[in-house]
Amino acid sequence: MAKRIGLHAFNMTAAGHQSSGMWRHPQSQAARYKDLDYWVDLARTLERGRFDSIFLADVLGPYDVYGGSPDAALRNGMQIPANDPFQYVSAMASVTSRLGFALTASATFEHPYPLARRFSTLDHLTKGRVGWNIVTSYLPSASRNFGVSALPHDERYEMAEEFLTVMYKLWEQSWDDDAVEVDRERGVFVNPDKVHPIRHKGRYFDVDGFNMAEPSPQKTPVIFQAGASSRGRRFAARHGEGLFVNVLNSKLSRAITDDIRTQAEAAGRKRDDVSISTILTAVIADSDAEAERKYREYKEYASGEGAMTLFGGFSGLDLAKFDKDSPLAAGDTNAIQTVLDLFTKLDPSKKWTPADIADHMSIGGVEPVLVGSPETVADEIERWIDEGDLDGINLSYAVTPHDIEAFVDTVVPELQKRGRVWKDYEGETLREYFSGPGNNRLSPTHPGSLVSRNAD
Ligand SMILES: Cc1cc2nc3c(=O)[nH]c(=O)nc-3n(C[C@H](O)[C@H](O)[C@H](O)COP(=O)(O)O)c2cc1C
Repeated sequence: MAKRIGLHAFNMTAAGHQSSGMWRHPQSQAARYKDLDYWVDLARTLERGRFDSIFLADVLGPYDVYGGSPDAALRNGMQIPANDPFQYVSAMASVTSRLGFALTASATFEHPYPLARRFSTLDHLTKGRVGWNIVTSYLPSASRNFGVSALPHDERYEMAEEFLTVMYKLWEQSWDDDAVEVDRERGVFVNPDKVHPIRHKGRYFDVDGFNMAEPSPQKTPVIFQAGASSRGRRFAARHGEGLFVNVLNSKLSRAITDDIRTQAEAAGRKRDDVSISTILTAVIADSDAEAERKYREYKEYASGEGAMTLFGGFSGLDLAKFDKDSPLAAGDTNAIQTVLDLFTKLDPSKKWTPADIADHMSIGGVEPVLVGSPETVADEIERWIDEGDLDGINLSYAVTPHDIEAFVDTVVPELQKRGRVWKDYEGETLREYFSGPGNNRLSPTHPGSLVSRNAD
């Protein structure tokens, strides 16, 4: 039987996320990113569409590589201003009962101790619907904002390894499952014998005590990861439960998913312990011709400057310094190596110039845009999933919430009719959507289950 397609909604608590300039479109409500009603309505829409999760991206500094300043990012509202995603979740959780929430937090700039509690708190309040997108922060502006020099790319992952060890100790080991007794007779709320300081002493972190929060329904939130470099994939294959890849075509995606699943096996996990999704944007109308017209109309609002701003942050390369019509050459970067590789060497059939990149990325960012009727878009999604051996999509948008509503109202029913999207949730926690009903906790082969309280 063809496998279920998991749906995630790729979003950000900012006006501009992947598609630049689209906040100017008359139908766009992107500027309402700071309005709770907007998010509450969106959460309801996504749960109606049986989405596994809303996935909220985050960065800790502006995109200031393009033109050497944050001006273009500010002018275009590209991922700035950006609010703190954590603070939106309780409101969205209060109007839904199944939708999951995948939240981005940096293992480079956060500290494990308070972050463990923030996730435990939300996992309690949502009754087990929280995931953590672990990022290693590619923007130099974030390093400057934290007053540190940027760590080399691979060392950021070494630091993330230790960050996770601390988190697993706090979540999985510092409280026994039955530590909270709430025994009115004996006057014992928590049994002190069942709470254990972790006494972690490491290269990057020393954490003495136990988690401030008691164990939550999932204990460890579902681990999401999107590292794509070879070091990033190794990290993702070891820890990730929900993984995201960014690719330009479905054939390239098969090689990447194969590699990740093989690495997961080498790390003692099963090939399908990792649920892998790709980012897609869909522009939908009743017919293919109308959708094409709609896409062309969207393009009138899209901003090439905003796209180059995004590319600058992703790739570390300032396109303002290049001839806009000469093909870009391959190179090394301390930012996202694979984004640069995608446009320089992974697809030899196309030579990308800065002008091509600006045009391509202005709607949907790096990843492809599907344009067509609900049937055409559903066909394409099935093709992507099956050719790429993927488990789901991370749906981005150009005009919000219009494109997301159109997807929920037209493409989801089509995929449900084909038996590819579930008609109802199976399970209640986010981890159950990946691992099956009853599996609220990390699998026994996951490194978070295996870490020892006393190991560094
Ligand atoms: C779907 C997706 C979402 C991502 N979201 C974020 C994000 O919100 N914040 C961030 O700093 N990086 C984000 N990234 C970047 C990756 O997590 C990772 O840091 C980046 O790809 C660099 O690692 P790599 O060189 O191993 O690929 C995202 C990547 C993808 C594909």
